Amino acid sequence: MTGPSGASTGHVPELRLDGRVALITGASRGLGRAMALGFAAAGADVVVSSRTAEACAPVAEEIRSMGGRAIAVSCHVGDWQQCAALVDAAVAEFGHVDVLVNNAGIAPVPPSISGITEELFDRTIAVDLKGPVRLTGLVVPQMPAGGSIINISSTASVRNTPFTAVYGAAKAALNSFGQAAALELGPLGIRVNTIVCGPFMTDSFSKAVPTPEQAAAFAATRPLRRIAEPEEIIGTALFLASDASSYMTGALLALDGG
Ligand SMILES: NC(=O)c1ccc[n+]([C@@H]2O[C@H](COP(=O)([O-])OP(=O)(O)OC[C@H]3O[C@@H](n4cnc5c(N)ncnc54)[C@H](OP(=O)(O)O)[C@@H]3O)[C@@H](O)[C@H]2O)c1
Repeated sequence: MTGPSGASTGHVPELRLDGRVALITGASRGLGRAMALGFAAAGADVVVSSRTAEACAPVAEEIRSMGGRAIAVSCHVGDWQQCAALVDAAVAEFGHVDVLVNNAGIAPVPPSISGITEELFDRTIAVDLKGPVRLTGLVVPQMPAGGSIINISSTASVRNTPFTAVYGAAKAALNSFGQAAALELGPLGIRVNTIVCGPFMTDSFSKAVPTPEQAAAFAATRPLRRIAEPEEIIGTALFLASDASSYMTGALLALDGG
């Protein structure tokens, strides 16, 4: 292996987060929970957050039972005061934040384009876009060089459907925001990347695709012919969080079964 100068470094990067502090939203279940447990197994201290601390407490407890450090903190990401309190709690406990995962997301289904209500629109944008924008802004002053921000997006952001009209539009804006943030924060040594997820078997997926027949039909649309398990996000997220991706920023990584 060679370094930037062309000299041999002999350095093989490890997918480890020892001594790093990771703040993960939407971490009570689904993909967020999988990343929280995966990051903790890789050595990170974890701030486990969702709308209620009670829902996050079992995840934090599981991390502590593995010998890790974790706290559970409530935060509705659409409320900027709660976002500020979340970052304050993370800094009070661990001193700084090395990794932010903007994972919390919702995908309410409108009956039609004409049937999109103001409530559905505002709620979706608040969780899927407004929260990540503010949390990024709040975390940056608390993030040392080498920090990593990961936004969790969706294939709907690049191939939208009427079924996901507002959700896909919000996630497309999140992709765009991530690229702007990568430009601004790169000189600070902070990287910002986006995982563009395909179907994962979580509560939100089961709600949108409720029957085994529908799930099988969905799986058939993917070259890998299956729906991913939540744990299958860990490798990509850990790669982006760790120094293994130290020269990657502003990227949209597809994690979608092809
Ligand atoms: N699963 C998929 O197929 C799929 C595909 C593409 C993209 N994604 C994206 O992946 C991310 C995770 O999705 P998932 O499938 O794991 O979802 P999920 O199983 O429904 O979990 C959603 C998480 O977000 C939290 N949450 C919901 N509203 C929140 C709010 N206002 N503020 C803070 N936390 C909130 C929930 O916790 P509480 O209820 O405790 O608040 C929960 O921890 C989302 O951004 C989603 O858009 C998922």
